[in-house]
Amino acid sequence: MNILGIETACDDTSAAVVRDGHEILSNVIWDQQKVHEKYRGVVPELAARRHTEVITRVIEAALVQANMTYADIDAIGVNAMRGLLRSVVVGVAAAKVIAFARNIPIIGLHHIEGHIYSIIVDHPNIEFPFICLTVSGGHNMLIHVQGHGQYELLGMTLDDAAGEAFDKIAKLLNIGYPGGPIIDRLAKTGNPKAFSFPRPMLNRSTDDFSFSGLKTAVLTCVQQLKKEGSPLPIPDIVASFQQAVIDVLVKKTMNAAIRKGVSTIAVAGGVSANSLLRQTFDQNAARQDMHLYFPQMALCMDNAAMIAALAYYKLKKGETSGLNLDASANAPFGIENE
Ligand code: KG4
Ligand code: ZN
Repeated sequence: MNILGIETACDDTSAAVVRDGHEILSNVIWDQQKVHEKYRGVVPELAARRHTEVITRVIEAALVQANMTYADIDAIGVNAMRGLLRSVVVGVAAAKVIAFARNIPIIGLHHIEGHIYSIIVDHPNIEFPFICLTVSGGHNMLIHVQGHGQYELLGMTLDDAAGEAFDKIAKLLNIGYPGGPIIDRLAKTGNPKAFSFPRPMLNRSTDDFSFSGLKTAVLTCVQQLKKEGSPLPIPDIVASFQQAVIDVLVKKTMNAAIRKGVSTIAVAGGVSANSLLRQTFDQNAARQDMHLYFPQMALCMDNAAMIAALAYYKLKKGETSGLNLDASANAPFGIENE
């Protein structure tokens, strides 16, 4: 079964063709970095307009790369439940036109659930249950995945997502956008112990996260150094900041897995590309004898292959949407805390 996926949650316009939930035939991503980098953050109005401009070209490129035409597509899956509303609307509208014209099923999906399938697409035999950390610029959740479509939401960020904190610190230090990959690279040359930044919520008995206090601590430190007239030791600052974020993400995920008696961990979303995060999870999972899964690099960021893979599992269960499918910026996800 060939499924066309469409993903337009934030600033990536993506279309993909995936066969039977695991064979990625194409995954085209038109990123809008050039549009937003001068603002050092995503401008929602510009993102939606760019999606509108390129969406048909991106879909056609995905079909061409898969060596297919619209006639070869059996169903269409689209992120309809999470992201910047006007951006999500563009993807949903495009998907509905194709579903109507071709008379094929349409499946409206949740972006966060899509990130979980960025791992399942390459590991269809992953062992349930597992704990999944989804961590990016727009979301930061800890999820107990009990089976296909069965989720217990254990915790989420109360303010900024970890990726958002990376982006804001990069903006503060004026080192470029998006901040995550830049800090990842720069931190390799810095001392992670140079500054002792707080590890928010680490010792609290909750699976929730909070990164705005850490961001403020870095801001205060930078202001103090500037007041003293000291040159900013940027690699040391970003290495210390990154270490604090990673300590929190890894420890809270490991704690949740141990408490739930689960021996498999998965990490998805943009921040899952971070090299130190991967290395730290590797070490911790090995110590606890746990299985660990990350998406392949190309599937860490927002992409449509994860959406097409998820659509396959929904379709198998007969879970389709109608042509009255609506778009939502922040639909709830999973069953909240026990
Ligand atoms: O999943 P994604 O493409 O979009 C959202 O759903 O937000 O993730 C983008 C986020 C950005 O905040 C970016 O800075 C972060 O992922 N990111 C990273 C790395 N690569 C991307 N953060 C830390 N280290 C990285 N290597
Ligand atoms: Zn995302």
